[in-house]
Amino acid sequence: MYVFNKKTVEDIDVNGKAVLVRVDFNVPLDAGGNITDNTRIVLSLPTIRYLLENHAKVVLMSHLGRPKDAVDEKYRLTPAAKELGKLIGKPVKKFDEIFNDEIKDYIKNVMKPGEVVMLENLRFNPGEKKNDRDFSKNLASLADFYVDDAFGAAHRAHASISGVAEFLPAVSGFLLKKEVEALGALLENPARPFIAVLGGSKVSDKILVIKNLLEKVDELILGGGMTYTFLKAMGNEIGRSICEDDQLGYALEMVELAKKNGVKLMLPVDICIAQEYAENAESKNVAINAIPSDWEGMGIGEKTIELYKTEIAKAKTIFWNGPMGVFEFERFANSTKEIAEAIAGSSAVTVAGGGDTLAAIKKYGLNGKFSHISSGGGASMEFLEGKILPGVAALQDK
Ligand code: 3PG
Repeated sequence: MYVFNKKTVEDIDVNGKAVLVRVDFNVPLDAGGNITDNTRIVLSLPTIRYLLENHAKVVLMSHLGRPKDAVDEKYRLTPAAKELGKLIGKPVKKFDEIFNDEIKDYIKNVMKPGEVVMLENLRFNPGEKKNDRDFSKNLASLADFYVDDAFGAAHRAHASISGVAEFLPAVSGFLLKKEVEALGALLENPARPFIAVLGGSKVSDKILVIKNLLEKVDELILGGGMTYTFLKAMGNEIGRSICEDDQLGYALEMVELAKKNGVKLMLPVDICIAQEYAENAESKNVAINAIPSDWEGMGIGEKTIELYKTEIAKAKTIFWNGPMGVFEFERFANSTKEIAEAIAGSSAVTVAGGGDTLAAIKKYGLNGKFSHISSGGGASMEFLEGKILPGVAALQDK
């Protein structure tokens, strides 16, 4: 059993205290600045509600997007603060700056316990990404405690994540704890067989994850664009399919590592191919050794889907990251849908993570059907690479 050995909000007395909470409200916005998916805000509610019920003054801070170290109107956190207000049923006062004397005075002398305020997007200040000490100190001066609940940003050693923890007692929120426990349990003593299902277009994004998972899993199932690099490395013709030629050596190394570690490595036996990368392109299903030179792979084939489903049915623990094909084109989305449904329908412990993976889960209405869906893309990957995340390392031990 994986033990989270960091202090949490339940280990501090927040009554009447100002608590600076780092959340990850990096939510998708449409062209009009409206939030198109509020999942990350919803996931922060248990911690915020707990702090409010325990009479804390809740001071929220987050980043949004990747502004260039300066104010960028389209990345203000105003819509996120409004959305949170709706969800908790009380106003969330949103400041248009991150830090100044007025904000400090408001929190100290005007704000009441049980109220929530939100600072402006941390990335408007160059000190955030640089993990600047003075910026961290200024943030810390706003409160008595620091709570990190931003799992999605826990892999960033930024001022609001690691820096500020040097100046305040630093503990975890419920979301960060839940994420680390769910992902930690995969790496430590998972129920076996443990199968990882990895997809997505690039091998280079998954180099360290594949390597680390090959030390942990019983079986590794590969799908999506990255398989063509593996297939080519193993001597197959892949036509015009996406391929990273500079990763061919790495792919072969992973095949060898799987052999050495006794991990069953599953690659497609057939592929759905198309004449061009387009929604309405002519397509067909072929064996992996029969891809014509001017066609390209769009996803794992029909036999492969059935084969992978049979393997998935045997698992006791499953981790899934990455689509099995070009699922943004409806005609080629079937492989991802079928594999997603097979994992969701399994009685194993099922954990999923990554932006495209979450989009697929949402698209197919499978949200409640996983044991854990990670809110972190990069953070969950780095955790599974075996790295210690700065956002976790900064917190006080129990
Ligand atoms: C994410 O969306 O993965 C997190 O919010 C981190 O964002 P970043 O990649 O811009 O640091």
